[in-house]
Amino acid sequence: MDRILFLRKFIEEPKKIGSLTPSSSFLADKMLRDLPWENFSYAAELGAGTGTITKKIIERKPNDCKFLVVEQDYSMRHLLEEKYPDVVFDSFAENLSRTLQRINFPLLDCVVSGLPFANMEEDLRRRIIENVCDSLKHDGVFVMFQYSLQMNSLLKKYFSSVKTDFFLLNFPPAFVYFCKK
Ligand SMILES: C[S@@+](CC[C@H](N)C(=O)[O-])C[C@H]1O[C@@H](n2cnc3c(N)ncnc32)[C@H](O)[C@@H]1O
Repeated sequence: MDRILFLRKFIEEPKKIGSLTPSSSFLADKMLRDLPWENFSYAAELGAGTGTITKKIIERKPNDCKFLVVEQDYSMRHLLEEKYPDVVFDSFAENLSRTLQRINFPLLDCVVSGLPFANMEEDLRRRIIENVCDSLKHDGVFVMFQYSLQMNSLLKKYFSSVKTDFFLLNFPPAFVYFCKK
């Protein structure tokens, strides 16, 4: 069902959704497995889609770690709201800093993203990365996947460390970016 919803949304808005199918659970594990979840008190996910990565974050995070999920598509967000009543939801990644103030979250330990940056205008891309950077604690981490290395130079302007890894067990294969503030 999730795959059908995802495909339908892709047909409606291909640029915004950015992929034909949800990520593989292998990719989600690759993104999350080396993060020190036991130390995290506040985390956010941007571009959750139908929730492949959301599910894995909820499995890994401590019970008392507060979690914000941001997804612009109403149907996919609604699906996740029904599934995860303890999670806080919002719509637009470009409003992340303002959202944190509104919901009374302090700076975040971690932001995980599945956003399709490659399809965005340069200005929106920059605004989202600025929001992520402003929303993270001084030692916060930002992890995301993309299908190219196009985001490397922008990320290097905002983060002290940017590492990438190519991962084959996804359709299409993806680059995982690990960034430290
Ligand atoms: C490539 S899909 C990834 C979905 C999911 N994370 C996964 O890995 O299967 C990108 C998602 O980002 C969402 N999205 C795109 N632009 C957004 C924005 N500005 N704010 C929040 N979500 C956005 C899309 O609606 C879509 O669900």
